[in-house]
Amino acid sequence: MQKGIDDSLLETVRYLGTELGQIIQQHLGDEWLDRIETVRKQGRKSYAGDKTATESLQKLFAQMPDESLLTIGRAFSQFLNLANLAEQEHTVANVTEQDPVDEFLAKIKHTDQTNMTLAQAVEHLSIELVLTAHPTEVTRRTLIYKYSRLAECLSQLHESDLTDTQRKKVEQRIAELISQAWHTDEIRAARPTPVDEAQWGFSVIENSLWQAVPDFIRTLDEKLADNFGLNLPTNAVPVRFASWMGGDRDGNPFVTSKVTEQVLLLARKRAAVLFLDDISKLFVELSMGQCSEELRQQVGADEREPYRATLLQLKNKLANTVEGIEAFLAGEQYQADNWINHQDELIKPLEACFQSLNSVGMKAIANGLLLDTIRRAHCFGIHLLKLDIRQDSDRHDQVFSEITRYLGLGDYSNWTEQDKQAFLLRELASKRPLIPRVWQPSAEVQEVLDTCKVIAQQNEQALGIYIISMAQAPSDVLEVHLLLQEAGIKWPMPVAPLFETLDDLNNAYDSMAALLDIEWYRGFIRNHQYVMIGYSDSAKDAGALAAGWAQYQSQEALVALAEQHQVKLTLFHGRGGTIGRGGLPARQAIFSQPPGSCLGGLRVTEQGETIRYKFGTEALANRSFSLYTSAILEALMIPPPAPQQKWREVIEFMAGHARDNYRDVVRHDENFVPYFRSATPELELSKLPLGSRPSKRKPNGGVESLRAIPWIFAWAQNRLVLPAWLGVMKAFKTSLEAGHEPLIKEMMQQWPFFASRLSMLEMVFMKANPQMAAIYDDQLVPEPLKYFGENLRTELKEAQVLLLELLGQQEVMQNEPAGKESMEIRANYLEPLHLLQVELLKRARQAGDEELSYNLERALMVSIAGVATGLRNTG
Ligand code: PGA
Repeated sequence: MQKGIDDSLLETVRYLGTELGQIIQQHLGDEWLDRIETVRKQGRKSYAGDKTATESLQKLFAQMPDESLLTIGRAFSQFLNLANLAEQEHTVANVTEQDPVDEFLAKIKHTDQTNMTLAQAVEHLSIELVLTAHPTEVTRRTLIYKYSRLAECLSQLHESDLTDTQRKKVEQRIAELISQAWHTDEIRAARPTPVDEAQWGFSVIENSLWQAVPDFIRTLDEKLADNFGLNLPTNAVPVRFASWMGGDRDGNPFVTSKVTEQVLLLARKRAAVLFLDDISKLFVELSMGQCSEELRQQVGADEREPYRATLLQLKNKLANTVEGIEAFLAGEQYQADNWINHQDELIKPLEACFQSLNSVGMKAIANGLLLDTIRRAHCFGIHLLKLDIRQDSDRHDQVFSEITRYLGLGDYSNWTEQDKQAFLLRELASKRPLIPRVWQPSAEVQEVLDTCKVIAQQNEQALGIYIISMAQAPSDVLEVHLLLQEAGIKWPMPVAPLFETLDDLNNAYDSMAALLDIEWYRGFIRNHQYVMIGYSDSAKDAGALAAGWAQYQSQEALVALAEQHQVKLTLFHGRGGTIGRGGLPARQAIFSQPPGSCLGGLRVTEQGETIRYKFGTEALANRSFSLYTSAILEALMIPPPAPQQKWREVIEFMAGHARDNYRDVVRHDENFVPYFRSATPELELSKLPLGSRPSKRKPNGGVESLRAIPWIFAWAQNRLVLPAWLGVMKAFKTSLEAGHEPLIKEMMQQWPFFASRLSMLEMVFMKANPQMAAIYDDQLVPEPLKYFGENLRTELKEAQVLLLELLGQQEVMQNEPAGKESMEIRANYLEPLHLLQVELLKRARQAGDEELSYNLERALMVSIAGVATGLRNTG
């Protein structure tokens, strides 16, 4: 452990905590400062296992009125936010390891045998990060803003050459910001709208990615040139962005066709504003007179400042776009013929300036801000990012069911898959429209049709792909192509099935094989197929190990299928931030995919709070790009080994047992759901206004319709973290008993997919806290159900012991002292928050159907959000 560094982190945490303490003292007086200090000290003892301290905190909270509990909850929740901030700043400032790209390039220099050359790998490098509005970010935007400013202050403070006056100024600003945060309500008053969510996504681009992308490409280009003589072309886009915010309507009734249309326009406006700013700066700078013949011809012989003349036209177009969109959205008269409508209109003038400057020997000028702007133009473009659309397959089915019934053809929903396909293919080939002119569909069907119309009116560059959730069969994909065709689309929008249950993952190959066997279809999709893999719903369905293996196998089979048909396959990974939802560090995630899975590029979701943790600042974004880039290049050049047959047999055996162990508890035991509902704040969670969408797919559905996020979120709150481990180590035990130990050891050493299963469990066990889960049970679970929790905790303990045995370790995360320490710093603040939450849940449940007091409800929300903050992950 690097002592100095850890001390400095602790020091920063203490410093920020003291500042917050002083602010609370100023606001509420000495008595409150003392009270919070007592709670903090008792919390620390309680976490260390001192039962008297735990009881004294429980007693203290039981006597406090709701209002006081709210204050305590707020204080500890804010302490945790400050601790996270200190840690984040500490990580960025103390990156002692080498940059991942440097490390990879050094390694490759000494590697003879690679699957492809570096130049080829760089050509294949395509990272598409898809920002989603998944409701897992608990922190309000206004607080995120304040914390970002605080992070900047902290990094200034750690610069050694500050004068005393400068230091004092920064410290004053820190106190100001902490005070602003303390006096701000941390819980949103209302759910954000999908438009709010989309605007937030745009702000991430504006605040960090806009600068981070060209910086990263510039550095990468230099590294490749210096070490290998390779140059990235000016149009290289190693990383690009898409979004689901305002496009993902699966189970979210608030994302309507109107919203999607508005979000698309707002994205264009934001892009125009950002480029306008860049171009205006360039206009000031590029005052040179000498230019190439080509540029001269474009601007005319009399133009003294050819670059400015070129940029001026672009500037005007961008300004017209901003004005026009504003007028349109305000319902005023507007003109659209003078907007910037095509990517080329942005790129061509910039490239003309670039080439001219280079050709007249002004390379340094060409390669500065101008090159950055060209790179932004290629990466973000006039639409800022590509909007994906996602809809549930049932909704498409419903459209065809209503149409066929109206046309007297029977009910499409009841047809066989073969009949459906035959019908859809016939209609796709037909020149006559299918949708009757005079026909009044249901409101739900109309909404699907309207969405397709909005899509069809867009330019190809505005949209990403259309994803079908709960997809099962080829007809699911053909339905969407037909709906888009009916809406008059002029370009082939990629349509991706999302396979997200265990059965659907297992059938993915057959389903896609049937589709790709259709020659017409291959031509129609221009030999490029996208498939989305759902990590969290499959884990909710079958448990972590069985789902992981099914994800692996389906990807492997799909890669082989694509190769057989000579089709480019882009796998789209729907990973969340938490382990239970497929979250893994970038490198581990990529190396636990089968060989060849990155050949069609990497497309992956970035959700909720992970957007902030990975891309919230330029430095963080740069680091994340570097991690992704190095891992992908390595996976392309030195792919992880394909599993040997004997390994497959072992994992198959284990996955089957793990699935059964998991389902025996979650699905087949009637006491499970009542236990889940009493031991976790699942029901209370739905009140937390995190995101725009409801927490269930069907408003009255049970646990089966609960989305994966609240499912994981609830189990994190009581620290049992059940979905990530249930049944897994039991299956390992069965496998060991069957004599698989030597093979298991071999797999741990040689197969990254397998090794990552174990390191995932290590991380999960680090977050799990069975002592705390026992307190939840003791206080909240009815007597007859208490045994359920006891059994689960016994399994958890046995699982930990077995894992450590296998790893040959004394404790979890033994080799990750930094991660362990970070969890421990937060654990002391988390302890009182949990105990407080238990007390609040008791009060809320005693109130039954009565309306909760404002303070009680707020305090409960604060405790839930605070625990999520402390764990640095929500759902
Ligand atoms: P979904 O995502 O519910 O939007 O399918 C699940 C998840 O990301 O965990």
